[in-house]
Amino acid sequence: MGYIEWEERYCIGVDRIDAQHRQFLEYLNRLEQHLSGDGDPGAVGITLNRLSDYANFHFAEEEATMGASGYPGLEVHREQHDDFRLQLADLKARYQSQDRTVVQGLVRFTADWLLRHILEVDRGFGGYLSQAGTKG
Ligand SMILES: [Fe+2]
Ligand SMILES: [Fe+2]
Repeated sequence: MGYIEWEERYCIGVDRIDAQHRQFLEYLNRLEQHLSGDGDPGAVGITLNRLSDYANFHFAEEEATMGASGYPGLEVHREQHDDFRLQLADLKARYQSQDRTVVQGLVRFTADWLLRHILEVDRGFGGYLSQAGTKG
């Protein structure tokens, strides 16, 4: 899929969450690199684990920030995070079955999901927070 550059439009206006999204994308880029290059094959498994740990950390932080601000879209948002967690679990299972082509397709799919989620859903929360006059 090639390296995905961070773009200004991915910012939701909450510094802590923006920094986490950048890190998230960085793990995805690293994973893609390990999958397509001839690097250390063990690095794919390690990066997959880091990515899913980071996803769990980030989603928990985001949901806690939403809960603390009384954001009305929290439940719908949480469902999207849960869907993503399932996708990641599927990705890890497929990696363990050594199906690299399928995993590459899934990484691409996961990156698309993440960027769309930031642009369409996380930014909605950023807008809500700035209207409420708080930065979470
Ligand atoms: Fe989110
Ligand atoms: Fe997010």
